[in-house]
Amino acid sequence: MKTAVIYASKTGTVKKMAGYIADKISADLYSVKDGVTDIGQYDRLVLGSGVYAGKLSKHMVRFIESNDLSSMKVELFVCCKFTGEKAEEQLKKITAKFPTVSSATYFGGKEREPTDADAYIGKLSE
Ligand SMILES: Cc1cc2nc3c(=O)[nH]c(=O)nc-3n(C[C@H](O)[C@H](O)[C@H](O)COP(=O)(O)O)c2cc1C
Repeated sequence: MKTAVIYASKTGTVKKMAGYIADKISADLYSVKDGVTDIGQYDRLVLGSGVYAGKLSKHMVRFIESNDLSSMKVELFVCCKFTGEKAEEQLKKITAKFPTVSSATYFGGKEREPTDADAYIGKLSE
């Protein structure tokens, strides 16, 4: 499955994690600000964004809303400071706006390292 990992990151956490994920699953890596080369070549997109005031980066929102992603599998991950129920509620609110996102997960808390994504990467590789 040809995959692109596309990230939006203000302070670097998501950028690091997206790079790690792309490397592990041999996917192409893009910053959402730079745009994606020939998006139609991909079967799957892994989208990563920080959460800012309860929302995705505006660049990521624009990307999701302005591209036809209906033929692709779209997996979203977010990095956020919340954990547990608060993080789940937050993620639910975020994904409710994006019907083309097929699955979503969060990495929450103060210290988030790329290796936090190992289990997630395992699922992506199944
Ligand atoms: C301006 C700002 C607003 C934030 N708002 C939220 C928020 O509403 N909910 C949350 O869980 N985390 C919030 N955070 C924490 C970030 O989502 C978290 O640090 C994330 O890892 C940032 O990713 P980045 O380093 O790739 O930009 C906020 C951080 C910043 C800088």
